[in-house]
Amino acid sequence: MADSLATRTDTGMHFKSIRDMDLKGKRVLLRADLNVPAQRGRVTDTTRIDRLKPTIDHLRKEGAKIIILSHFGRPEGEQNPEMSLAFLVPALEKCWGADIRFAPDCIGDKARAVADALGNGDILLLENLRFHKGEKANDPSFAAALACLGDVYVNDAFSASHRAHASTEGLAHLLPPAAGLLMEGELNALNAALGNPEKPVAAITGGSKISTKLKVLYNLVEKVDYLILGGGMANTFLFAQGADIGSSLCEKDMAEEARKIMIHAKKTGCEIILPVDCVCVTEIKSNADIQTVKADQIPADHMAIDIGPESIRNISRILEHCKTLVWNGPMGVFEIPPFDTGTNAVAACAAELTHKGTLTSIAGGGDTLAALENAEIKSGDLSYISTAGGAFLEWLEGKPLPGVAALSACTKAA
Ligand code: 3PG
Repeated sequence: MADSLATRTDTGMHFKSIRDMDLKGKRVLLRADLNVPAQRGRVTDTTRIDRLKPTIDHLRKEGAKIIILSHFGRPEGEQNPEMSLAFLVPALEKCWGADIRFAPDCIGDKARAVADALGNGDILLLENLRFHKGEKANDPSFAAALACLGDVYVNDAFSASHRAHASTEGLAHLLPPAAGLLMEGELNALNAALGNPEKPVAAITGGSKISTKLKVLYNLVEKVDYLILGGGMANTFLFAQGADIGSSLCEKDMAEEARKIMIHAKKTGCEIILPVDCVCVTEIKSNADIQTVKADQIPADHMAIDIGPESIRNISRILEHCKTLVWNGPMGVFEIPPFDTGTNAVAACAAELTHKGTLTSIAGGGDTLAALENAEIKSGDLSYISTAGGAFLEWLEGKPLPGVAALSACTKAA
């Protein structure tokens, strides 16, 4: 953890932390990401809510009046009762052990009336920000309508900070900004992974397509010593090298792009690690007949569905001599056992090395959390598991995230 006054990232950005502010009696506009998995009005995964608890506890202890801003879903500027945040109140109360008030709008008289009645340490949840078009448009008048409810702006929504919206970007220019504890944790972990990592560094990238991760791959080959590929995207690289990949998922039109990435990796000194063997089937189903074959000799009617035992040993050997790992994406079709074997084995290896203290491991983005959960990896098993999906991927691309950039720029200007 960096010094208590500011968090420094690889780009030299500085942030004020809520730990450095006198918040007693202050109205804190806390941008949280409560875009949580839910089914029939019930939260099905509380990870994002649990991760906000340290910030909530800190703000309550300091006597702040906590006003929570969040989006849920993509209502596109329309009032949509199915995307109201009201259903979250019981889950928040249970996870945070506190009473939560709710305002049926995030701006205007309805919000103001409930906000004005808050005492020190009280918590108010405002209705879905995205019920107003001004949120996504980063409309200054909408940002001003939010700002007049608070004295201080705290961004604890790293996972929404790839959006330049009023609540993630605009507000930082209108109120004294600070990072919440979850934001600080994410930024410190990401800095440890790619900003200023201990070398050698490995990245594991899986998932089905390279077309959606081209920028990620180009950025990673410039930053890491080993780029380990799995999942469908590895097939495209194998195909590009002339391998027989049978009927495996493959983006043949991306073969040239894959070759360019391999050439670029040679120049930057990054070793691309592809599967050497794979588990393959003729049909994707749990009781399918499986064959383990060399990754470049897959029978014409078979498709690769997981990495094989030799590939697992290969990856484990690499991780054993690395100091840092950044992981995004599964190694195979982990949703259908036994095709989760490769992903689970690599996850177990990363967890073991992390517990031994030889590896700093950071994972996040898209399917990664579900894959780790399936592998029974708990939050303490890796150094950091990010709550972010799209934001984690944009960070892997090396893109500046508008919400993070605004925090830094406005802290400097203040
Ligand atoms: C997420 O769940 O990744 C964030 O809340 C961002 O949501 P969005 O993609 O709808 O902006």
